[in-house]
Amino acid sequence: MQQLSADLKAEGNIIGFVPTMGYLHKGHLSLIKKSKQKTDITIVSIFVNPTQFAPNEDLKNYPRDIERDKRLLRKYGVDYLFFPKEDEIYQKNFQTYVEVKNISKILEGEFRPTHFSGVTTIVSILFNLVKPDFAFFGQKDAQQAVIIKQMVSDLKFNIKIIICPIVRESDGLAMSSRNIYLSKKERSDALVLNKSLSEAVKNIRGGEKSSSKIEYEMLKIMNSVDSSKLDYIRIVESETFVEAKKLLKGSVYYILIACKIGNTRLIDNVLVKV
Ligand code: PAJ
Repeated sequence: MQQLSADLKAEGNIIGFVPTMGYLHKGHLSLIKKSKQKTDITIVSIFVNPTQFAPNEDLKNYPRDIERDKRLLRKYGVDYLFFPKEDEIYQKNFQTYVEVKNISKILEGEFRPTHFSGVTTIVSILFNLVKPDFAFFGQKDAQQAVIIKQMVSDLKFNIKIIICPIVRESDGLAMSSRNIYLSKKERSDALVLNKSLSEAVKNIRGGEKSSSKIEYEMLKIMNSVDSSKLDYIRIVESETFVEAKKLLKGSVYYILIACKIGNTRLIDNVLVKV
């Protein structure tokens, strides 16, 4: 991969990189499309990264279908698929981890304490192998994207990070490889995430500035289905991820939500300018 990247660059190509864990959907496709617009060569990686899953999480059951993914990547016109084996990435005696200290501890980090160190470690390794000029991440995982930006800035990776908007199903559910776990009833219950985010945006547009009032209205919608078990609803300043109690005119915020629908953990968010 490193040699290929060096050769492509020597020929004058700008390289775009889309890291994924596979089981591709239109959310992944939107990142690929953006990369194809902005760069000469698009490289996609598929690697279900064990270090970002806790022992009680879904590593073993994470959906995988490499033949289907390969067909999609060909159809999307991706130039190269990087599909490494686990022991090529984490060789025996592997012992180095990359950790972004503060932002990794809050929100998702409270519920998945080891998750982001796994993400920043694998993304660093992939960056060192693929050596892209641009890397594309989805706003669907907003905290992940902000953590990667922080890491790239702190560790001086010479890579520009592009964050792309959330792609949704026609009824509003954010696309996710994990949606396949949902039963028919849960799939319909899962609409409460997007509904409560829309309610929050509506209240903000109506002039509401108090985060607790906005969050209370969201909570009512989340609790309207019995399959939902909320982890958090939080409004944070978009650049720093610091919690905002009162919204200020002209500022930009993420409204973030994480919950379980049945046994499936889902996250969603919206970016709003007040
Ligand atoms: P994965 O969940 O496969 O997601 C790969 C990329 O697709 C991430 O940047 C994610 O934010 C983006 N994505 C997922 N659903 C999306 C949607 N509905 N709309 C827009 N973008 C979406 O995120 C990971 O893999 C891993 O943590 C990874 C970065 C590959 C490191 O292992």
